[in-house]
Amino acid sequence: MNPIKNKTLHDNRNSFWKIAQLAENKYWRTRCSDAIGIFYEMGEDLDLPWMLQKTLKRNPQSFLDVGVGPMGVGLHWMYPKTPIRIGIDPLTKINVLTGNSYADKLVEEICRDSWYSRGRGEELPFRSNFFELVVCHNVLDHVSEPISMLNEVCRVTQKGGYVGISVDTNSRLGNFLRKIDRKLRSHLNTYKQHPHDFIIGEIGEFLKSKGFDILFVNNASFLGGLLGRRRRQSWVAIKTL
Ligand SMILES: C[S@@+](CC[C@H](N)C(=O)[O-])C[C@H]1O[C@@H](n2cnc3c(N)ncnc32)[C@H](O)[C@@H]1O
Repeated sequence: MNPIKNKTLHDNRNSFWKIAQLAENKYWRTRCSDAIGIFYEMGEDLDLPWMLQKTLKRNPQSFLDVGVGPMGVGLHWMYPKTPIRIGIDPLTKINVLTGNSYADKLVEEICRDSWYSRGRGEELPFRSNFFELVVCHNVLDHVSEPISMLNEVCRVTQKGGYVGISVDTNSRLGNFLRKIDRKLRSHLNTYKQHPHDFIIGEIGEFLKSKGFDILFVNNASFLGGLLGRRRRQSWVAIKTL
């Protein structure tokens, strides 16, 4: 392995990520400034919450939301009685004040009993096998080192505990076309905010290789799997090893 080449790759990824995070911060400041933005973020995609609700019908003992978002809500609303609830995100927490008291109180209440920590999912400051549930909802294509982050998510999940992951994925053809389009239209916000692309099914295979059994997955349609894109492909898996 060439350490100089490796360092350059790391620096490049880091600078892409910093640009992505600037765009992300701007996005969340707008979202958190009105009630529609708040409700949109909470209900934008409910496949993963639906799968989690089917799997874990009680409140888990400990719950980590990796890339929770600077609003601090993430999927914390699902388990109000969980005693240890932590959200981690690199962005500074935003104090939501939209002027709509229903929206503001809801966010305040959800955040009141959970801990917001600033940090990156690639280096989680928690001991191994600690959490009963770890989720990572719509985050992996935003980070600088997605494999390191997945490793960390698996590490901090306890044996017999659950992970819930969702991310947009592409067919092999879709992935190839996106690579070309990225080069041609790198100025687009969608590319700036999402430095990575994933292939349909890739995350499920990774989880299996780490000793997880897949309990739920929303697969792509036949045509989608061949040519298209699977929006928010989601997995719920249990750690067996
Ligand atoms: C699209 S938002 C999703 C937020 C939340 N999970 C949700 O579903 O509402 C992506 C989040 O990933 C966070 N993020 C980006 N890079 C990250 C990293 N390296 N580690 C943890 N979170 C990261 C961003 O700051 C942003 O809040």
